[in-house]
Amino acid sequence: MAQLNLQHLDKIYDNNVQAVFDFNMDVADGELIVLVGPSGCGKSTTLRMVAGLEDISRGKLLLDGKDITQAPAKDRDMAMVFQNYALYGHMTIYENMAFSLTLRKEDPNVIHKKVLAAAEILGLTSQLNKKPSQLSGGQRQRVAMGRSIVRNPKVFLFDEPLSNLDAKLRGATRREILLLHKRLKATMLYVTHDQTEALTLADRIVCMSMGHVQQIGTPLELYDRPANLFVAGFIGLPPMNFYDVLFQDGVLKGQGFTVELTPEEKATLSGYNGKEITLGVRPEDVSAGGGISTKVFSNENLGMNTLVHGYMGDNLRITAKLRGWTDYRNGDVVSLLFGRKHFFDKETTNAIRKEK
Ligand SMILES: Nc1ncnc2c1ncn2[C@@H]1O[C@H](COP(=O)(O)OP(=O)(O)OP(=O)(O)O)[C@@H](O)[C@H]1O
Ligand SMILES: [Mg+2]
Repeated sequence: MAQLNLQHLDKIYDNNVQAVFDFNMDVADGELIVLVGPSGCGKSTTLRMVAGLEDISRGKLLLDGKDITQAPAKDRDMAMVFQNYALYGHMTIYENMAFSLTLRKEDPNVIHKKVLAAAEILGLTSQLNKKPSQLSGGQRQRVAMGRSIVRNPKVFLFDEPLSNLDAKLRGATRREILLLHKRLKATMLYVTHDQTEALTLADRIVCMSMGHVQQIGTPLELYDRPANLFVAGFIGLPPMNFYDVLFQDGVLKGQGFTVELTPEEKATLSGYNGKEITLGVRPEDVSAGGGISTKVFSNENLGMNTLVHGYMGDNLRITAKLRGWTDYRNGDVVSLLFGRKHFFDKETTNAIRKEK
């Protein structure tokens, strides 16, 4: 069992920089939470407050209902895996994994069992007698995870554990972490700036910007119903297209283009008649064959899809992810159609939802 409650956590560093503002979240037992956001948004600071590596300036932290706000890191029963996992080069993989238990002077038989079990889970059984230098980057990362697993902590904390790996290995190791989470059923907090990692790993995502939580929800909620412009632009790749538009006479008028709306979309915007809003359309929600004339400047075939970049209206950039293989050339004119649309209030940048 490991339930976490992060209650109104603030972090103000000694130089008076406030890195985290009012971080509030309840983490259920066995949940995999991913903190995502751009560099400097406060992800590591939050994780380090949970780990006890950084003081909590204000707020409370509970583990299984017990207040651990002031508890030293070593008493928190948590294990942290970093981006720069330092393995001991002179020790074997076995010794590296056993290290923390050996330090605690646990029974060698128990240590042996734990190390073998962790190696089994991580597919490292045949590597145990090797030295770290004989392993690949991905295998070394797994050893680093193995070191936490043997300790059987209540909570696993990961800070960008995959960022030193190449793209292919990152994908593979990501899947291993998912399997690991399934097998251990452990509570995990995982930090990354990579929205793909967040979408693929998380039970729930916490999207942060400049120290503030922007939205907490399932990957689908953040993708399909982003709370504001920031989340809409951060989650999804290539990013959502955004346009300033005027809602008038039941249509959206942009700079040099007009977008027709469904009755439901009109109802959503009913409070905005005569007002400017921000329209967001994901590249994958743009298709060929509509009324939006676009001049192509780049055609990138991805295999199953093609990314078509162009200019529409009065020279506005648009990226469309079209199905199949297309061979547009620079200067070709295509007609595009907007499918699913997202609307944002210009002042608050919050998503405009249908009034209930
Ligand atoms: N020890 C420190 N003293 C003062 N300011 C700090 C300290 N550590 C981090 N900061 C500041 O706090 C803010 C958040 O930093 P943090 O490391 O939590 O960001 P992050 O989201 O993990 O970014 P990255 O993706 O680059 O790792 C940044 O503005 C950073 O400069
Ligand atoms: Mg960080």
